[in-house]
Amino acid sequence: MSTPANLVVQDLYKEYPTPNDPLVVVNEVSFEMNRGESLVIMGPSGSGKSTLLYMLGTLETPTRGSIEVNSRNPLTLNESGLAAFRNEQVGFIFQEHHLLPQCSALENVLIPTMAPSSAQTPAEAKQRALRLLDRVGLSGRIEHRPAELSGGERQRVAIARALVNKAPLILADEPTGNLDRHTADAVADLMLELHREENTILITVTHSLELAARFPRRAELTDGKLVFTSNQAT
Ligand SMILES: Nc1ncnc2c1ncn2[C@@H]1O[C@H](COP(=O)(O)OP(=O)(O)OP(=O)(O)O)[C@@H](O)[C@H]1O
Ligand SMILES: [Mg+2]
Repeated sequence: MSTPANLVVQDLYKEYPTPNDPLVVVNEVSFEMNRGESLVIMGPSGSGKSTLLYMLGTLETPTRGSIEVNSRNPLTLNESGLAAFRNEQVGFIFQEHHLLPQCSALENVLIPTMAPSSAQTPAEAKQRALRLLDRVGLSGRIEHRPAELSGGERQRVAIARALVNKAPLILADEPTGNLDRHTADAVADLMLELHREENTILITVTHSLELAARFPRRAELTDGKLVFTSNQAT
């Protein structure tokens, strides 16, 4: 029997209740990805892209269907198991950076490593956080709080934070949505370079054609269905 893919999504379905018929947002989506692969998801506003991404990251519960990351199904876990799973297996990059305002850049990157389930010792975690901050060009800003950083710098801190626990699955929702074109290009470069260096699975949702053009594999979410539009569709 061949080894299953690192990410296996099967018949994922999400509906929201409404006073009338339920609103079907994601309708039986199935796909597989392995470490080192990336995917960009596009689609109209309200088509369900964020809902799909958050289900993959276990921030949103599917109505039905299954997700397996390295053969582990997070949907079977209790609350603490789920928190540990999310911490170890998933890194998020949002449109808004979601950094803690009272913490420095370094402290913000270290937060995911402070969970009880963390595999790294505090010394290892600090070394990795410093290395990642250096890698995203912020070694001169480690003591700056979010308000003392530019928008692009804040997003680069968020990228370092998403990677600090060596999660195999990195999910980005409009990561360049708040940035000017030049800064967006620089942030996209870093995100993709680090995806290759860290051999992650990278799934990015965006409205930006410029960002989407950098991904070898693209899918469009339309009427709840994920339609692969690039050459390498599975
Ligand atoms: N908690 C909720 N309860 C009910 N309906 C919801 C909920 N969250 C989202 N929706 C609806 O589900 C649909 C998909 O929302 P979603 O945020 O996934 O879209 P999106 O593709 O990310 O859009 P955008 O490009 O604007 O970010 C929308 O019509 C939205 O109104
Ligand atoms: Mg969205």
